[in-house]
Amino acid sequence: MFSETYESYSKQIEEELVRRLPAVDTRSGILEEAMRYSLEAGGKRLRPVMLLAVCEIAGGSAEDAMPFACAMEYIHTYSLIHDDHPSMDNDDLRRGKPTNHKVYGDDMAILAGDGLLNSAFEIMLGEILHAGNDPARRERCIRAAAEIAEAAGVRGMIAGQASDCRPELVQGSGEDRLLYIHRNKTGAIIRASVRAGAILGGAGEAELEAFTTYAENVGLTFQIVDDILDVIGSIRELGKNTGMDAERGKLTYPAVYGLEYSYDRAREVTEQAVQALEQVQGSNTDFLKELAQNLLKRIS
Ligand code: IPE
Ligand code: IPE
Ligand code: MG
Ligand code: MG
Ligand code: MG
Repeated sequence: MFSETYESYSKQIEEELVRRLPAVDTRSGILEEAMRYSLEAGGKRLRPVMLLAVCEIAGGSAEDAMPFACAMEYIHTYSLIHDDHPSMDNDDLRRGKPTNHKVYGDDMAILAGDGLLNSAFEIMLGEILHAGNDPARRERCIRAAAEIAEAAGVRGMIAGQASDCRPELVQGSGEDRLLYIHRNKTGAIIRASVRAGAILGGAGEAELEAFTTYAENVGLTFQIVDDILDVIGSIRELGKNTGMDAERGKLTYPAVYGLEYSYDRAREVTEQAVQALEQVQGSNTDFLKELAQNLLKRIS
Protein backbone atom coordinates (compact mmCIF):
# COMPACT_ATOMS: atom_id res chain seq x y z
CA MET A 1 0.00 0.00 0.00
CA PHE A 2 2.76 2.45 0.95
CA SER A 3 4.72 1.91 -2.24
CA GLU A 4 1.61 2.10 -4.42
CA THR A 5 0.69 5.44 -2.89
CA TYR A 6 4.26 6.72 -3.20
CA GLU A 7 4.39 5.67 -6.84
CA SER A 8 1.04 7.20 -7.60
CA TYR A 9 2.25 10.58 -6.27
CA SER A 10 5.61 10.36 -8.04
CA LYS A 11 3.91 9.39 -11.31
CA GLN A 12 1.69 12.47 -11.13
CA ILE A 13 4.80 14.55 -10.52
CA GLU A 14 6.70 13.01 -13.44
CA GLU A 15 3.82 13.92 -15.72
CA GLU A 16 3.79 17.54 -14.63
CA LEU A 17 7.45 18.44 -14.09
CA VAL A 18 8.42 19.23 -17.66
CA ARG A 19 4.97 20.35 -18.76
CA ARG A 20 4.94 23.13 -16.18
CA LEU A 21 8.40 24.49 -16.97
CA PRO A 22 8.22 28.01 -18.37
CA ALA A 23 8.90 28.00 -22.14
CA VAL A 24 12.59 28.52 -22.82
CA ASP A 25 13.55 30.78 -25.73
CA THR A 26 14.95 28.56 -28.47
CA ARG A 27 17.63 31.16 -29.20
CA SER A 28 19.16 30.22 -25.85
CA GLY A 29 20.34 27.04 -27.54
CA ILE A 30 20.90 24.08 -25.27
CA LEU A 31 19.70 25.75 -22.07
CA GLU A 32 16.34 23.99 -22.09
CA GLU A 33 17.94 20.65 -22.90
CA ALA A 34 20.39 21.08 -20.02
CA MET A 35 17.57 21.90 -17.59
CA ARG A 36 15.47 18.97 -18.74
CA TYR A 37 18.41 16.58 -18.68
CA SER A 38 18.73 16.73 -14.90
CA LEU A 39 15.02 17.02 -14.28
CA GLU A 40 14.21 13.95 -16.36
CA ALA A 41 17.10 11.86 -15.05
CA GLY A 42 14.80 10.54 -12.34
CA GLY A 43 15.33 10.79 -8.63
CA LYS A 44 13.15 9.75 -5.76
CA ARG A 45 10.96 12.87 -5.92
CA LEU A 46 10.80 12.72 -2.14
CA ARG A 47 10.17 16.42 -1.52
CA PRO A 48 7.26 16.89 -3.95
CA VAL A 49 5.74 13.57 -2.84
CA MET A 50 5.79 14.79 0.76
CA LEU A 51 4.30 18.12 -0.23
CA LEU A 52 1.39 16.51 -2.07
CA ALA A 53 0.76 13.90 0.61
CA VAL A 54 0.74 16.39 3.48
CA CYS A 55 -1.54 18.72 1.51
CA GLU A 56 -4.07 15.92 1.06
CA ILE A 57 -3.81 14.79 4.66
CA ALA A 58 -4.42 18.37 5.77
CA GLY A 59 -7.58 18.48 3.66
CA GLY A 60 -6.42 19.98 0.36
CA SER A 61 -6.07 18.53 -3.12
CA ALA A 62 -2.92 17.29 -4.82
CA GLU A 63 -3.93 19.16 -7.94
CA ASP A 64 -3.91 22.54 -6.19
CA ALA A 65 -0.54 21.75 -4.62
CA MET A 66 1.09 20.51 -7.85
CA PRO A 67 2.67 23.83 -8.93
CA PHE A 68 4.41 24.04 -5.55
CA ALA A 69 5.47 20.39 -5.70
CA CYS A 70 7.06 21.03 -9.10
CA ALA A 71 8.70 24.22 -7.84
CA MET A 72 10.21 22.23 -4.99
CA GLU A 73 11.65 19.62 -7.34
CA TYR A 74 13.06 22.37 -9.61
CA ILE A 75 14.81 23.89 -6.59
CA HIS A 76 16.09 20.52 -5.43
CA THR A 77 17.35 19.61 -8.91
CA TYR A 78 19.08 22.96 -9.30
CA SER A 79 20.76 22.40 -5.94
CA LEU A 80 22.06 19.03 -7.14
CA ILE A 81 23.48 20.47 -10.39
CA HIS A 82 25.34 23.15 -8.45
CA ASP A 83 26.32 20.71 -5.68
CA ASP A 84 27.98 18.47 -8.28
CA HIS A 85 29.73 21.34 -10.04
CA PRO A 86 33.56 21.19 -10.12
CA SER A 87 33.66 24.29 -7.90
CA MET A 88 31.64 22.47 -5.22
CA ASP A 89 31.63 18.67 -4.76
CA ASN A 90 33.00 18.00 -8.25
CA ASP A 91 31.03 14.82 -8.89
CA ASP A 92 30.65 13.14 -12.25
CA LEU A 93 27.68 10.85 -11.63
CA ARG A 94 24.14 11.81 -10.56
CA ARG A 95 20.85 9.98 -10.83
CA GLY A 96 22.72 7.25 -12.68
CA LYS A 97 23.95 9.57 -15.41
CA PRO A 98 26.92 11.84 -16.04
CA THR A 99 26.47 15.09 -14.12
CA ASN A 100 25.10 18.14 -15.88
CA HIS A 101 28.46 19.90 -16.31
CA LYS A 102 30.00 16.73 -17.77
CA VAL A 103 27.43 16.80 -20.56
CA TYR A 104 26.77 20.51 -21.10
CA GLY A 105 29.89 22.17 -19.72
CA ASP A 106 30.53 24.13 -16.51
CA ASP A 107 28.98 27.33 -17.84
CA MET A 108 25.72 25.72 -18.99
CA ALA A 109 25.41 23.69 -15.77
CA ILE A 110 25.46 26.88 -13.72
CA LEU A 111 22.83 28.40 -16.00
CA ALA A 112 20.66 25.27 -16.06
CA GLY A 113 20.66 25.39 -12.25
CA ASP A 114 19.82 29.10 -12.27
CA GLY A 115 17.08 28.42 -14.82
CA LEU A 116 15.46 25.78 -12.66
CA LEU A 117 15.65 27.96 -9.56
CA ASN A 118 14.07 30.90 -11.31
CA SER A 119 11.39 28.69 -12.85
CA ALA A 120 10.35 27.64 -9.36
CA PHE A 121 9.59 31.25 -8.45
CA GLU A 122 7.83 31.95 -11.75
CA ILE A 123 5.52 29.00 -11.28
CA MET A 124 4.71 29.87 -7.65
CA LEU A 125 4.06 33.53 -8.44
CA GLY A 126 1.93 32.47 -11.42
CA GLU A 127 -0.21 30.45 -9.05
CA ILE A 128 -0.63 33.42 -6.73
CA LEU A 129 -1.77 35.54 -9.66
CA HIS A 130 -4.17 32.81 -10.74
CA ALA A 131 -5.74 32.63 -7.31
CA GLY A 132 -7.18 36.05 -8.24
CA ASN A 133 -10.62 36.24 -6.72
CA ASP A 134 -10.18 33.53 -4.12
CA PRO A 135 -8.56 35.40 -1.22
CA ALA A 136 -8.19 32.33 1.01
CA ARG A 137 -6.38 30.37 -1.70
CA ARG A 138 -4.26 33.39 -2.54
CA GLU A 139 -3.20 33.79 1.08
CA ARG A 140 -2.22 30.12 1.32
CA CYS A 141 -0.23 30.29 -1.90
CA ILE A 142 1.65 33.35 -0.68
CA ARG A 143 2.45 31.69 2.64
CA ALA A 144 3.60 28.49 0.93
CA ALA A 145 5.81 30.41 -1.50
CA ALA A 146 7.33 32.41 1.37
CA GLU A 147 8.13 29.18 3.23
CA ILE A 148 9.84 27.75 0.17
CA ALA A 149 11.76 30.95 -0.59
CA GLU A 150 13.12 31.19 2.93
CA ALA A 151 14.10 27.53 3.08
CA ALA A 152 15.92 27.65 -0.26
CA GLY A 153 17.78 30.79 0.67
CA VAL A 154 20.46 32.25 2.88
CA ARG A 155 18.69 31.17 6.07
CA GLY A 156 18.30 27.65 4.71
CA MET A 157 19.77 25.53 1.96
CA ILE A 158 22.23 28.06 0.58
CA ALA A 159 23.55 28.70 4.10
CA GLY A 160 23.91 24.96 4.65
CA GLN A 161 25.77 24.48 1.39
CA ALA A 162 28.11 27.34 2.27
CA SER A 163 28.95 25.74 5.61
CA ASP A 164 29.26 22.30 4.01
CA CYS A 165 31.88 23.78 1.65
CA ARG A 166 33.83 25.33 4.55
CA PRO A 167 33.14 23.03 7.52
CA GLU A 168 36.20 24.33 9.36
CA LEU A 169 34.45 27.71 9.68
CA VAL A 170 31.30 26.34 11.33
CA GLN A 171 31.28 27.53 14.90
CA GLY A 172 30.13 25.43 17.82
CA SER A 173 31.12 22.07 19.09
CA GLY A 174 30.15 18.45 18.78
CA GLU A 175 26.83 17.61 17.26
CA ASP A 176 25.82 21.29 17.04
CA ARG A 177 28.08 21.81 14.06
CA LEU A 178 26.76 18.78 12.22
CA LEU A 179 23.21 19.75 13.04
CA TYR A 180 23.76 23.23 11.64
CA ILE A 181 24.97 21.87 8.31
CA HIS A 182 22.41 19.09 8.03
CA ARG A 183 19.43 21.17 9.13
CA ASN A 184 20.21 23.76 6.54
CA LYS A 185 21.64 22.01 3.51
CA THR A 186 19.01 19.24 3.52
CA GLY A 187 16.57 19.75 6.36
CA ALA A 188 15.29 23.17 5.35
CA ILE A 189 13.95 22.03 1.98
CA ILE A 190 12.28 18.96 3.43
CA ARG A 191 10.75 21.05 6.22
CA ALA A 192 9.47 23.60 3.71
CA SER A 193 7.98 20.87 1.50
CA VAL A 194 5.95 19.58 4.41
CA ARG A 195 4.98 23.01 5.72
CA ALA A 196 4.00 24.27 2.28
CA GLY A 197 1.83 21.17 1.79
CA ALA A 198 0.21 21.67 5.18
CA ILE A 199 -0.43 25.37 4.57
CA LEU A 200 -1.89 24.73 1.10
CA GLY A 201 -4.13 22.03 2.57
CA GLY A 202 -5.41 24.45 5.21
CA ALA A 203 -3.83 22.90 8.32
CA GLY A 204 -4.48 24.63 11.64
CA GLU A 205 -1.64 25.90 13.82
CA ALA A 206 -1.35 22.83 16.05
CA GLU A 207 -1.35 20.51 13.08
CA LEU A 208 1.24 22.64 11.31
CA GLU A 209 3.48 22.42 14.37
CA ALA A 210 3.20 18.63 14.46
CA PHE A 211 3.96 18.33 10.74
CA THR A 212 6.93 20.64 11.23
CA THR A 213 8.43 18.52 14.01
CA TYR A 214 7.88 15.46 11.85
CA ALA A 215 9.62 17.12 8.89
CA GLU A 216 12.59 18.34 10.91
CA ASN A 217 13.23 14.82 12.14
CA VAL A 218 12.74 13.28 8.69
CA GLY A 219 15.13 15.85 7.24
CA LEU A 220 17.83 14.99 9.75
CA THR A 221 17.34 11.26 9.27
CA PHE A 222 17.50 11.74 5.53
CA GLN A 223 20.92 13.38 5.66
CA ILE A 224 22.33 10.93 8.24
CA VAL A 225 21.22 8.14 5.90
CA ASP A 226 22.77 9.95 2.92
CA ASP A 227 26.04 10.22 4.89
CA ILE A 228 25.93 6.52 5.83
CA LEU A 229 25.19 5.52 2.24
CA ASP A 230 28.23 7.46 1.09
CA VAL A 231 30.24 5.00 3.22
CA ILE A 232 28.35 1.73 2.72
CA GLY A 233 26.16 2.24 -0.36
CA SER A 234 26.57 0.95 -3.89
CA ILE A 235 27.06 3.22 -6.87
CA ARG A 236 24.53 1.22 -8.87
CA GLU A 237 21.76 1.63 -6.32
CA LEU A 238 22.49 5.27 -5.51
CA GLY A 239 23.25 6.43 -9.03
CA LYS A 240 26.09 8.52 -7.62
CA ASN A 241 29.67 7.84 -6.59
CA THR A 242 30.40 6.79 -3.03
CA GLY A 243 33.28 7.44 -0.65
CA MET A 244 33.39 11.06 -1.74
CA ASP A 245 32.63 12.65 1.66
CA ALA A 246 35.69 11.08 3.30
CA GLU A 247 37.86 12.00 0.34
CA ARG A 248 36.80 15.63 0.64
CA GLY A 249 36.92 15.82 4.41
CA LYS A 250 33.19 16.58 4.76
CA LEU A 251 31.66 16.98 8.18
CA THR A 252 29.31 13.98 8.32
CA TYR A 253 27.83 11.75 11.05
CA PRO A 254 29.99 8.71 10.19
CA ALA A 255 33.13 10.87 9.97
CA VAL A 256 32.59 12.44 13.37
CA TYR A 257 30.90 9.64 15.33
CA GLY A 258 31.42 6.46 13.34
CA LEU A 259 28.84 4.26 11.67
CA GLU A 260 27.33 2.67 14.76
CA TYR A 261 26.34 5.94 16.42
CA SER A 262 25.08 7.23 13.07
CA TYR A 263 22.73 4.25 12.76
CA ASP A 264 21.49 4.72 16.32
CA ARG A 265 20.91 8.40 15.76
CA ALA A 266 19.01 7.77 12.49
CA ARG A 267 16.72 5.30 14.29
CA GLU A 268 16.16 7.63 17.25
CA VAL A 269 15.33 10.59 15.06
CA THR A 270 12.95 8.52 12.92
CA GLU A 271 11.12 7.48 16.08
CA GLN A 272 10.73 11.16 16.99
CA ALA A 273 9.34 11.88 13.52
CA VAL A 274 6.73 9.15 13.87
CA GLN A 275 5.78 10.28 17.36
CA ALA A 276 5.24 13.86 16.23
CA LEU A 277 2.44 12.65 13.97
CA GLU A 278 0.48 11.45 17.00
CA GLN A 279 -0.42 15.10 17.47
CA VAL A 280 -2.18 15.20 14.10
CA GLN A 281 -5.72 14.28 14.97
CA GLY A 282 -8.57 13.24 12.75
CA SER A 283 -6.54 12.31 9.70
CA ASN A 284 -4.69 9.20 8.66
CA THR A 285 -0.94 9.80 8.75
CA ASP A 286 0.16 6.20 8.11
CA PHE A 287 1.70 7.11 4.76
CA LEU A 288 3.95 9.71 6.38
CA LYS A 289 4.94 7.32 9.16
CA GLU A 290 5.89 4.65 6.66
CA LEU A 291 7.74 7.18 4.57
CA ALA A 292 9.92 8.06 7.57
CA GLN A 293 10.53 4.39 8.39
CA ASN A 294 11.29 3.63 4.77
CA LEU A 295 14.26 5.98 4.83
CA LEU A 296 15.88 3.65 7.35
CA LYS A 297 15.35 0.70 5.01
CA ARG A 298 17.85 2.34 2.67
CA ILE A 299 20.58 1.47 5.19
CA SER A 300 19.34 -1.88 6.47
C1 IPE B 1 20.39 14.10 -2.73
O1 IPE B 1 19.01 14.11 -2.58
C2 IPE B 1 20.97 15.31 -2.12
C3 IPE B 1 20.82 15.41 -0.69
C4 IPE B 1 20.10 16.33 -0.14
C5 IPE B 1 21.50 14.47 0.18
P1 IPE B 1 18.14 12.84 -2.98
O2 IPE B 1 18.76 11.61 -2.41
O3 IPE B 1 16.72 13.11 -2.64
O4 IPE B 1 18.34 12.81 -4.55
P2 IPE B 1 17.33 12.38 -5.70
O5 IPE B 1 16.39 13.52 -5.88
O6 IPE B 1 16.65 11.12 -5.28
O7 IPE B 1 18.22 12.19 -6.90
C1 IPE C 1 23.76 18.02 -1.02
O1 IPE C 1 24.36 17.29 -0.03
C2 IPE C 1 22.72 18.92 -0.47
C3 IPE C 1 22.16 19.77 -1.51
C4 IPE C 1 22.20 19.51 -2.79
C5 IPE C 1 21.50 20.97 -1.10
P1 IPE C 1 25.41 16.19 -0.50
O2 IPE C 1 26.58 16.82 -1.20
O3 IPE C 1 25.70 15.29 0.65
O4 IPE C 1 24.54 15.40 -1.58
P2 IPE C 1 25.09 14.22 -2.48
O5 IPE C 1 25.65 13.19 -1.55
O6 IPE C 1 26.10 14.81 -3.41
O7 IPE C 1 23.85 13.73 -3.18
MG1 MG D 1 27.51 18.65 -1.14
MG1 MG E 1 27.39 16.28 -3.14
MG1 MG F 1 25.94 13.18 0.43
